[in-house]
Amino acid sequence: MTILIKNGTVVTAQGSMQADVLIDGETIAAVLAPGDNALGVDLAASAERVIDATGKYVVPGGIDGHTHMEMPFGGTVASDSFETGTRAAAWGGTTTIIDFAVQKQGERVQDCLAAWHEKAAGNCAIDYGFHQVVGGVDSESLKAMDELIDEGVTTFKLFMAYPGVFLSSDGQILQAMQQAAGNGSMIMMHAENGSAIDVLVAQAIAEGNTDPKYHSLTRPWETEAEATNRAIMLARMTGAPLYIVHMSAKQAVAVLQANRDEGWNVFGETCPQYLYLSLEDQLSQPGFEGAKWVCSTPLRSKAEKHQDELWRYLRTNDLSVISTDHCPFCFKEQKEMGLGDFSKIPNGIGSVEHRMDLIFQGVVEGKISLERWVELCSTTPARMFGLYGRKGAIAPGFDADVVVYDPTGRTEIGFHKTHHMNMDHSAWEGFVIDGHVDTVLSRGKVIIDDNAYHGTAGDGHFLKRGLSQYLI
Ligand code: URP
Ligand code: ZN
Ligand code: ZN
Repeated sequence: MTILIKNGTVVTAQGSMQADVLIDGETIAAVLAPGDNALGVDLAASAERVIDATGKYVVPGGIDGHTHMEMPFGGTVASDSFETGTRAAAWGGTTTIIDFAVQKQGERVQDCLAAWHEKAAGNCAIDYGFHQVVGGVDSESLKAMDELIDEGVTTFKLFMAYPGVFLSSDGQILQAMQQAAGNGSMIMMHAENGSAIDVLVAQAIAEGNTDPKYHSLTRPWETEAEATNRAIMLARMTGAPLYIVHMSAKQAVAVLQANRDEGWNVFGETCPQYLYLSLEDQLSQPGFEGAKWVCSTPLRSKAEKHQDELWRYLRTNDLSVISTDHCPFCFKEQKEMGLGDFSKIPNGIGSVEHRMDLIFQGVVEGKISLERWVELCSTTPARMFGLYGRKGAIAPGFDADVVVYDPTGRTEIGFHKTHHMNMDHSAWEGFVIDGHVDTVLSRGKVIIDDNAYHGTAGDGHFLKRGLSQYLI
């Protein structure tokens, strides 16, 4: 099928221009200035479908590099399946996710990856790839890292938090980084000092401080900044590149910035929740309400002014990627596991549907440019995670993952309004965005249009990823 998206403003990380986009089958065939007849044919007359994008932005589909669909965690399982979670992502203009396959001590990494393939295959609305969590670093899992690269899994997540579940010792981290330095892959790090946090948590519970807000108060910014510094120092010893996930503390990003300024290959990701939500406004809501916003790293104090600093670091490129860390849990029965003990609340927030809108609001408010929105949400994730050339740009030969975005539209976020995630609440209830995802194409197929979903489970294919472009 040929589709012409005409009269729109094509926005890429490099710039914006009036242009028509011709799609042939699954790929972008041409990007042409209006009236350009370089192909020698009347495109509007010959295309099988014409989408009028007058007054709208035409942007590459979003790439969410950090999701957890149906992940067993905290004594329960994240509530979105690959089917519901990727469909919700499509509604919000995200056309690729990279989810985390999880391995724990004593499990074979290859078996764990196979289990994630089984969950996702035939169920996804959009294309997907995997990172691999290595929860048990030993000689077998280190060898497996080499094998996985050939299978298109080129990034490995380690944890400095969650002792007894996922935490790796400094020695294990060093070994995994040495392996990554040797095989060209990239280590992703959950940087929080889990042992110190466990002490603070036990003390808070013993003192009767059991409300959700204590989740943040027992994970002070120092625990993030210390672990960030330690992770970077370990990476420096090995020469391995390092990508720090879900950064929320300005002091931790300052550590990252100082090392980037010295030329080290270290990168940071943040998430919408850290840009908009806080300890005071959300986590401290009366009763048990705050449980909806328990995630790690935690929401930080508004009084400490982390949010403005994170936006600034997004502008200076010290934070290079915005992902969601989509890890949804229902309030009933899941978040409620922590009634009377905040440490038992499953950690995670659901946002996969709202990232493109929430970050576009940053454009509306003058915090980042239009082009930076595309770069942070699509182009850099594509380059960072070995997908560029297929994903992350509107250019001939790229997959036709395209979003037509209406800057004069309006999106009211909430459980009863635009919400398609498998959750019984929204962490974003009441947020209103000055923009709207109108049309979404995934590899040339229109999957969202006229406020309706036109895709099918199984449209999305597994993406074998290459090495990060930032390492070569
Ligand atoms: O609270 C979070 N972030 N849940 C998901 C697991 C993780 O650490 O990314
Ligand atoms: Zn994490
Ligand atoms: Zn995560």
